[in-house]
Amino acid sequence: MDGQSQTGGTLLTVEDLAVSFSTPYGTVRAVDGVSLQVQRGRALGLVGESGSGKTVLARSIMRLLPRRGVDTTGRVFLDGIDLTVRSPKQMRAVWGSRLSMVFQDPMTSLNPVLKIGQQVAESLRQHRQMSRHDSRELAIKLLDAVGIPEPAQILGRYPHSLSGGMRQRVTIAIALSCDPVLLMADEPTTALDVTVQDQILDLLQEQQHARDMGMVLITHDLGVVANRTDDIAVMYAGQIVEQGPTPVVFAHTKSPYTSALLQSVPRIDNPPHSRLEVIRGRPPSLLNPPSGCRFAPRCLRAQERCSAELPPLTPGPEPGHLFRCWYPVDAPSVPLESSTTRSA
Ligand SMILES: Nc1ncnc2c1ncn2[C@@H]1O[C@H](COP(=O)(O)OP(=O)(O)OP(=O)(O)O)[C@@H](O)[C@H]1O
Ligand SMILES: [Mg+2]
Repeated sequence: MDGQSQTGGTLLTVEDLAVSFSTPYGTVRAVDGVSLQVQRGRALGLVGESGSGKTVLARSIMRLLPRRGVDTTGRVFLDGIDLTVRSPKQMRAVWGSRLSMVFQDPMTSLNPVLKIGQQVAESLRQHRQMSRHDSRELAIKLLDAVGIPEPAQILGRYPHSLSGGMRQRVTIAIALSCDPVLLMADEPTTALDVTVQDQILDLLQEQQHARDMGMVLITHDLGVVANRTDDIAVMYAGQIVEQGPTPVVFAHTKSPYTSALLQSVPRIDNPPHSRLEVIRGRPPSLLNPPSGCRFAPRCLRAQERCSAELPPLTPGPEPGHLFRCWYPVDAPSVPLESSTTRSA
């Protein structure tokens, strides 16, 4: 039996997921003990700098990582089904029909030599066993729903003849074509023109609400998730450093890393031409991550304990809020637990 009952509205549960790659230089621990949940009909923003493990986490949830040279531990439940024990054949039944993904660059997910109509209809025929006529009708409806003008004409065109924004709308239509319960969108707008980015994000949000879907929206930009997600998980060097309901994480930020990310987001109330703070230093190598807190070498608040002991994820006073820090930002500069005395 691979099915397990889930509590109430939980759609996705990730338990202690770890992913390592064997490389000629050693083992890269790209995801290190991540646990999170997505509630039915809610959007989770997964945020972190480049290289923090967001894509590896998303792909391991979807079981899209190659098996060779990749070691994955932990469990992933979607709607009560343990995906980690599914065979590749069983996974094919889950992709598209329950779980879909939108990638950063629409050209990588569209086939350049097939017309748009063939690609949308192919997905419908494969997952829904629809007739040619019905799949064409539904393809037109789907393209219309994602804001594509003259959808019937677009069916006969090739991907390269569409703008980047239109191509991403097509991949979203394909991802939605089988009514997934969960949509994973991995930096869906970074390859697009800034003027189109908001439109695509609005479209995703609109569809997520209309379909009561769960969504994981992956981005390096906290500004993107501020008004578009219900919950946030902030990743740093393969680990979650802060998570909770979006308004709580913004209003009661505890992790100095989240705080630094927030200061690097442009804000409308900043005076014109004011400098954005950039987080000093670089993310650590995941071949030899620093001991203790992984952010310590870059953290302005770090003290001796930080490089010695990895802080656990600790609950904040607000429900659902967790953070990983010995000296959280709005706290006085004393350790959370006074178990060790700091040297002067
Ligand atoms: N196939 C692989 N083999 C070895 N290391 C890998 C492999 N894929 C990813 N990594 C490493 O895993 C870490 C996490 O990568 P990942 O692509 O998940 O980051 P990310 O947060 O999605 O970054 P970005 O914002 O740039 O997309 C990086 O250090 C990366 O170099
Ligand atoms: Mg990525």
